[in-house]
Amino acid sequence: MADFVGAVDQGTTSTRFMIFDHDGTEVARHQLEHEQIMPRSGWVEHDPVEIWERTNSVMQNALRHGNLSPSDLAAIGITNQRETTVVWDPRNGRPYYNAIVWQDTRTDSIAAALERDGRGDVIRRKAGLPPATYFSGGKIQWILENVDGVREAAEQGHALFGNTDCWVLWNLTGGPEGGVHATDVTNASRTMLMDLETLDWDDELLSFFGIPRAMLPAINPSSHAEAYGHTRTQRPLRAAIPITSVLGDQQAATVGQVCFTPGEAKNTYGTGNFLVLNTGTELVRSRSGLLTTVAYQFGDNAPVYALEGSIAVTGSAVQWLRDQMKIISDAAESERLSLTVDDSGGIYFVPAFSGLFAPYWRSDARGAIVGLARYHTNGHLARATLEAICYQSRDVVEAMEQDSGVHLDVLKVDGGVTANDLCMQIQADILGVPVSRPVVAETTALGAAYAAGLATGFWRDEDELRTHWQESKRWDPQWSDEQRSEGYEGWKKAVERTLNWAKV
Ligand code: G3P
Repeated sequence: MADFVGAVDQGTTSTRFMIFDHDGTEVARHQLEHEQIMPRSGWVEHDPVEIWERTNSVMQNALRHGNLSPSDLAAIGITNQRETTVVWDPRNGRPYYNAIVWQDTRTDSIAAALERDGRGDVIRRKAGLPPATYFSGGKIQWILENVDGVREAAEQGHALFGNTDCWVLWNLTGGPEGGVHATDVTNASRTMLMDLETLDWDDELLSFFGIPRAMLPAINPSSHAEAYGHTRTQRPLRAAIPITSVLGDQQAATVGQVCFTPGEAKNTYGTGNFLVLNTGTELVRSRSGLLTTVAYQFGDNAPVYALEGSIAVTGSAVQWLRDQMKIISDAAESERLSLTVDDSGGIYFVPAFSGLFAPYWRSDARGAIVGLARYHTNGHLARATLEAICYQSRDVVEAMEQDSGVHLDVLKVDGGVTANDLCMQIQADILGVPVSRPVVAETTALGAAYAAGLATGFWRDEDELRTHWQESKRWDPQWSDEQRSEGYEGWKKAVERTLNWAKV
């Protein structure tokens, strides 16, 4: 009897495989990091072969840790860092270039050109996205223009594009021997190439980037009863298990947090922060700098859309304190160090390392620490970093309320940074609404598992999944209204200082 569902979560810093039982409880996991390759300032790459090797290892190890065999899995789901772009040769499975990661800003001149000549508005209207370095379209164009032989290979059908979901799926289902080249509506909605209404690649958008259609994967629903394919009978599982879901990681977390009703939202605190608000089957176009995106599509049901506020640098600002500034030795120390001071002492840190994403979309912004006096210590900088995570989320919540008219009563949170109690308290203080974290904090893998299990009947429907959600902790706002508005005013001034810095 197959009593479990597995999920591959191919993230920005690591790949994990998690196995859940029928109650949505985790029974096993394994996780491995991969290298962050930064050949120049603003460039971020991953080695796709390393990612595939890590995927193999984590699947095998998680099963071993759980004392399970592949036949214990009713289905497998895949979720992934979105936008990160791989182009490979289907004849031998070799990538033509490293994966260009979502944070990479090398395509800023491509994005700026789109904005200057009116194509940006077409992208906004059809794809729901502002032209930006963040999305896959410009990254594919860069590979076609800068890597020898790829354009010719693409024209002859010898170059495939995929985000890392697609790369992992193709390899899991046979690679050069019949691998399935497919993605889902949520990933496709992050490329600037898919029309949000038809849910198909759009020829006009493809022409903006000079991308041949033959490079692109088939687009399927996120939860797919016919299955994306089966794992092949070679490694890693040596068994044919159906792969029945694919979703971008932020959309998967939305499912894992059971935000199935329009007006429900979640905020995931990872490398960056991603606040996703379910807007139902209605496509809401943002006037405030948010993205319109697909939240999920279950089988033949109508797609459910979302407004998303994507913030490039939050958890990775804490990593920067650790790896570059070396003022902490692990992420948890950011909380201890911040507690050595009562407040940030009036300094603000705007970690605009990759420009600013939502709601500003300014690739010319670069990071700044403002308000420094000789009095300030490492403790103030650590605290200003936690505040920056929370102020950026406030910027996005404000935009979301303007666009949707929905006022959040509570913010559901998940992701690594939510282990930082002080940061979550600061978030409640800065927003003025309670912050609530569920028992299962691994909502991304859980959401991919839910979508996979819904496709096979392992779980009946969304209502059944709702019964699994339980709160583990809630933080209530403690700041006065005056403190809150003064603090936010200072933040807005600090953001101003970061603009017009990089030449684009
Ligand atoms: O859009 C980028 C996002 O999907 C990355 O998420 O958690 O892998 O940093 P994460």
